[in-house]
Amino acid sequence: TDPLRVALLGCGVVGSEVARIMTTHAADLAARVGAPVELAGIAVRRAGRERAGLDPELFTTDAGALVKRDDIDLVVEVIGGIEPARSLILEAMEHGASVVTANKALLAADGATLHAAAERYGVDLYYEASVAGAIPLIRPLRESLAGDKVERVLGIVNGTTNFVLDRMDTTGAGFSEALEEATALGYAEADPTADIEGFDAAAKAAILAGIAFHTRVTADDVYREGITEVTAADIAGAKEMGCVVKLLAICERSRDAATGEERVTARVHPAMVPLAHPLAGVRGAYNAVFVEAEAAGQLMFYGPGAGGAPTASAVLGDLVAVCRNRVAGGRGPGESAYAQLPVSPMGEV
Ligand code: HSE
Repeated sequence: TDPLRVALLGCGVVGSEVARIMTTHAADLAARVGAPVELAGIAVRRAGRERAGLDPELFTTDAGALVKRDDIDLVVEVIGGIEPARSLILEAMEHGASVVTANKALLAADGATLHAAAERYGVDLYYEASVAGAIPLIRPLRESLAGDKVERVLGIVNGTTNFVLDRMDTTGAGFSEALEEATALGYAEADPTADIEGFDAAAKAAILAGIAFHTRVTADDVYREGITEVTAADIAGAKEMGCVVKLLAICERSRDAATGEERVTARVHPAMVPLAHPLAGVRGAYNAVFVEAEAAGQLMFYGPGAGGAPTASAVLGDLVAVCRNRVAGGRGPGESAYAQLPVSPMGEV
């Protein structure tokens, strides 16, 4: 069988782990896909960033040329940020490659453009790693629950802020000290402002709301409040009331009070969670997401939501799915069936 050829864009915390697993588990991956899966090139920003155990010949600083190569079946984008990631993804699709991305900022800002391009060029767009690291959420929402009606998605989707709030709660550590620890452990974004101000969680809320409610939601549609104003006194006060403070993302289907029209609301803010609630027990950089669906009832997804290896796990799951689709000569589910619901940042108060 012809090998499937993968181009990797980015070789940082997540990318290097993806490359490592692709190399060490090549035989397993080939068995699961039904064809060999080859790493055909790795684009990095600066030369001299070659990683131990990886063929130096694979590395290039010319990502633009890599995505235009005709022999590439799949582009894995783990650079992050809007540009040049968006242009590279669109270029890759135009050249017939499917795309796996972990890029939550891009999906939340302009997922519609990526989905439209995937439809136009008949390729796959998978992004399990964009929300909550290793935890399967996108495919359960897009596939397993596709026949149900999701009413609410509620969760802890940022590991850094959960780590910081948890440390402040359990060890009495100060905010900056806890944040430094989260950064050292590789949980925080390159600029941790995205974590502590709630931008990262808002991007994930937009992606989850869009996929759960089959509609388009962007990060700008999400009401957002971070954790920078949460004080040690707030945490102590919550404790006295039998609660912990958590940064929650809340996405709901609701109805306009006046018109009865169905709509979607999405918000991110610190919330008091009673100790008896399962979300209160989510410690460290772990994430957890509740999904309430009409027929399924309540589901909870829980696990490591950040870090190189957990995020690489989600990327590789998508890689296998896309490669299987290619071997079968087809595509996975797209997002052609959007019903555009009105979106408002807050529901009824
Ligand atoms: N900075 C993010 C977090 C990484 O802390 O959850 C995973 O998206």
